[in-house]
Amino acid sequence: MDKLIIDGGRRLCGSVEIQSAKNAVLPLFAAAVLTDQPVTIRDAPAITDALCMAQILRELGAEVRFHGADVTVDSSDAHSHEISSALTGELRSSVFMLGSLLTRFRRARIAYPGGCDIGLRPIDLHLSALKRMGVEIAERDGYILCTCDRLRGAEILLDFPSVGATENILLAAVKAEGTTVLSGAAKEPEIVDLQNFLNAMGAKVRGAGTDVVTVEGVKELSGVDYRPMKDRIEAGTYLIACAICGGEIEVRGVRGENIGSLLHKLRENGCKIHSKNDKIYLESRSRLRCNRRIETMPFPGFPTDLQAQTTALNCTCEGCAVIVENLFETRFKHVPELQKMGADIEVKGRTAIVRGVPRLHGARIVAGDLRGGAALVLAALGAEGTSEVLDLSHIDRGYSDLQYKLKNLGAEVRRVRV
Ligand code: UD1
Repeated sequence: MDKLIIDGGRRLCGSVEIQSAKNAVLPLFAAAVLTDQPVTIRDAPAITDALCMAQILRELGAEVRFHGADVTVDSSDAHSHEISSALTGELRSSVFMLGSLLTRFRRARIAYPGGCDIGLRPIDLHLSALKRMGVEIAERDGYILCTCDRLRGAEILLDFPSVGATENILLAAVKAEGTTVLSGAAKEPEIVDLQNFLNAMGAKVRGAGTDVVTVEGVKELSGVDYRPMKDRIEAGTYLIACAICGGEIEVRGVRGENIGSLLHKLRENGCKIHSKNDKIYLESRSRLRCNRRIETMPFPGFPTDLQAQTTALNCTCEGCAVIVENLFETRFKHVPELQKMGADIEVKGRTAIVRGVPRLHGARIVAGDLRGGAALVLAALGAEGTSEVLDLSHIDRGYSDLQYKLKNLGAEVRRVRV
């Protein structure tokens, strides 16, 4: 197991190239089994969640080859509809496999999905939508068994705009008989990316990015060579790093409107921001002001995946911030670690009240989940003295080359074996 050793207090300066989006790429791996022709995903991020999806596909009998950063999936020999608990337990995105396995084999047996331990994360919305499409579902011994004679297009209304459920329904609907009209869909940019990918395979999906997505089932899907969108959460993480440390950076690859809610909050803090095409420039000069209130919401609201990093930022701003986590129940695991660094934070249920202190100090801290772990790295970059961030496996799930990218921006970061 590795740890990061960070000497805090360096200003950040320079330019950082953003990786392909984790949350766009993971459903594409699942979509690769919708066809028996080769699918190439260009510039896949070197993160362990992507490797885990590749492993799941191999377990199904598909061939997955990495050529540099590009991945080709050839699932012509895929024969299995079962995913072992060892793999689904690693990764929540394995739940997307339900929709694509049903399309391919009319059957799917998967263990209940894992991923970050940030709350209950039920999958009832996925399952009730699949039922409406003609799927029979049995749950036994921690496994879900889904079967159908054929998938039927259906009118589906989601009570909550779940990202994963929206993506799963698209994967089940692309080759279903008839048309699926999904209302109350999630509007995240990654859904638009999935629509683009599926349409490049020959699917007929429209409306992604709005709350009604329509899918006309087609008979066949072909292979595709596709470059996914860039990672708005990774981009947001580097912008917040610079806001905390002071300095000026440019992130390349992400359009400002995809993280408009974050840019709005960073301007409220006192950062100067310009965005043009797919570049965002941020300058942070003097001590920032706390955000009065941040509430996480589905897109285009403030992303829950940037809540922890923003909490870290507010720790050293002037004033007091109220941060409300509406999406996941237990997404404040980073708070006790930030407190070890001198942060003044009080958590009451889903709300964190952050009172800004002038500086945090270095400490030995443990990453408990992916974004919470990133938040601790950011806090350590801005803190006085040296910090050690332990249990990097969570951070490796979603950030490629974190220490190199930070070093290039002028941070003092070393990754060492424990
Ligand atoms: C995806 C993202 C994750 C992000 C989240 C919210 C991927 C791989 N992961 O996760 O990074 O934090 O969106 O933007 O894209 N819910 C139910 N029943 C369901 C499904 C969801 O109650 O059947 C609830 C969840 O418990 C949670 C909320 O809906 O409270 C949001 O979940 P959802 O949008 O489905 O998130 P994920 O797809 O898991």
